[in-house]
Amino acid sequence: MQISVGTVTSAAAVPATMSNKEILIRLLQVLRPYRAKLVISMISMIFVALFTGAQTYMVKDLLDKIFIEKNALFLYSLTVVIILVFGLKGVFYYIYNYFLEQVGLSVIRDFRAKVFAHIHIQPLSFFHSYPTGTLISRVISDVTLMQTAVSSCLVGVLRDFFSVVVLLGVVFYLNWKLALFCFVVVPFATFPIIKFSKIFRKLSTKAQEETAHVSNMLYETITGNRIVKAFNRESYEIKRYNDQLTTLFDVTVQDAKFRCLQHPLMEFIGGVAISLFIWFGGKLVITGAMTPGEFFALMTSLIVAYDPIKRIGKVNSAIQQGIAAATRVFVILDKEPEIANRSNSSELPPFKHAIQFKNVQFLYDDETIALADINLDVPVGQNLAIVGHSGGGKTTLTNLIPRFLDVSGGSISIDGTDIRNVTLKSLRDQIAMVTQQTILFNDTVRNNIAYGRLESSEKEIEQAAEAAHALSFIRELPKGFDTTIGEGGARLSGGERQRISIARALLKNAPILILDEATSALDTESEREVQGALDNLMKNRTTFVIAHRLSTIKNADRIIVVKHGRIVEDGTHDSLLALHGEYELLYNMQYH
Ligand SMILES: Nc1ncnc2c1ncn2[C@@H]1O[C@H](COP(=O)(O)OP(=O)(O)O)[C@@H](O)[C@H]1O
Ligand SMILES: [Mg+2]
Repeated sequence: MQISVGTVTSAAAVPATMSNKEILIRLLQVLRPYRAKLVISMISMIFVALFTGAQTYMVKDLLDKIFIEKNALFLYSLTVVIILVFGLKGVFYYIYNYFLEQVGLSVIRDFRAKVFAHIHIQPLSFFHSYPTGTLISRVISDVTLMQTAVSSCLVGVLRDFFSVVVLLGVVFYLNWKLALFCFVVVPFATFPIIKFSKIFRKLSTKAQEETAHVSNMLYETITGNRIVKAFNRESYEIKRYNDQLTTLFDVTVQDAKFRCLQHPLMEFIGGVAISLFIWFGGKLVITGAMTPGEFFALMTSLIVAYDPIKRIGKVNSAIQQGIAAATRVFVILDKEPEIANRSNSSELPPFKHAIQFKNVQFLYDDETIALADINLDVPVGQNLAIVGHSGGGKTTLTNLIPRFLDVSGGSISIDGTDIRNVTLKSLRDQIAMVTQQTILFNDTVRNNIAYGRLESSEKEIEQAAEAAHALSFIRELPKGFDTTIGEGGARLSGGERQRISIARALLKNAPILILDEATSALDTESEREVQGALDNLMKNRTTFVIAHRLSTIKNADRIIVVKHGRIVEDGTHDSLLALHGEYELLYNMQYH
């Protein structure tokens, strides 16, 4: 097991190539399927705004007709109207809010599904550059930030816009001179908002990146907890985690510093505006140009209108965060999978004749040469063993066959068809794999075995388990085939895990089989059991076996020795020993 700790490779960093406008347009495009709900929500929103305007307008009649004229009849009708206005506003408010929430949640669900699907069409190399924790934080927290941005955008920009328009309408209707005054105040109040937005976006990007580091660390140390314990690194990991938390804390505190300043600053600006208003409007009332009712209705409208204006600040920071999150998510969504079906790709017919490697070359990251000049012709049914020192390129070579990686030069063909010209599905349908690291899912034994062929019958599953020498221990599990095996099969021994993964490969019944050091993680006793299972699996299949114990491949039809990315020897066990070369060296290392 490899514990590479905490380093995030540069490929996961986010370039800032998309403009705000582009991102917002893309975000809003996601809303298209929910148009109907949005329209209902928006219409209700307009009603909410209209009723808000009615509420503030009523202040004028309340003062002028009831308190000053003392009109008793009007008092009764006004109380009824107030109840109606508040009630209806509530109904519309509920409709608009509920529909908007539904749209927001749908967007989250769609994005999570889309990112998940997109991650799974990426080739192996993608996962080398994106740590697990980073991907998890993209799917979970970044998408949530995006949703907040989309709903804030709609609430903030639309509802508040309508309210402000209606309220300013009321203000103009009441007294245009005083209304003009508002147009001096509004730009003055929005100035600090613009100032803050840049700071917010930068800090939010930083905070999300640090959060991704925190989740990476969490993931690695939790999944690698046995190694942490074995090496007594608990306090080291705790310190490292605390340091990372401190970094995240510093960034978020910095963010809070500005966020907390926003509210009192806006309040103060509001206070200044109100005092100017009282000074200006008070004079109009004293000179008789305006009734007290008009004055108070106007002031109420302005106070109510200031609320949405103030909110623009909050909405703004949500939108800035959302844009930063969306940028990161779009970087993943825009990543074209390097390995995908070609437009003219066909189905690979059932494998009949031979797999051919022609002058195959492979480079990691366009610089590390892992394979060169690989020429290999494997006829159907051959049992080919690949041996060599660690790091020679054996795993890389076999990863090329199911196109987990694509050749950098040369070609691989099956029955004469270049594997890059067939669909990935039809290619991978014909290949089964058993690797050193057994990957099992936290599900029942049955579902783990049937993973590659969910439609398998109970009998087929049992037969596969039996051929994989797994039936007897499965029967002894508390719930037999229905036992859940824990994350990665944690409740089973290494040999048991491997036998389940062999049963899984057996059930898939693919003509081409790749075994990558399938027994090397096991002790001698379980190795014997697993080897028996493997022998059953290899029957009647074309097999690529990477073996670290040469005793297991002595009887292979053919053995190739891979060194520094090249095939240096090729033959049978006896012919290779007779060469007195690389193979003999490897052999003697194990037996003398
Ligand atoms: N994802 C990767 N990125 C860069 N280099 C890699 C990667 N995986 C393997 N390599 C390098 O490629 C070479 C061959 O590795 P591998 O095929 O795993 O060897 P083997 O299976 O024979 O032990 C090694 O030098 C290794 O360091
Ligand atoms: Mg290997």
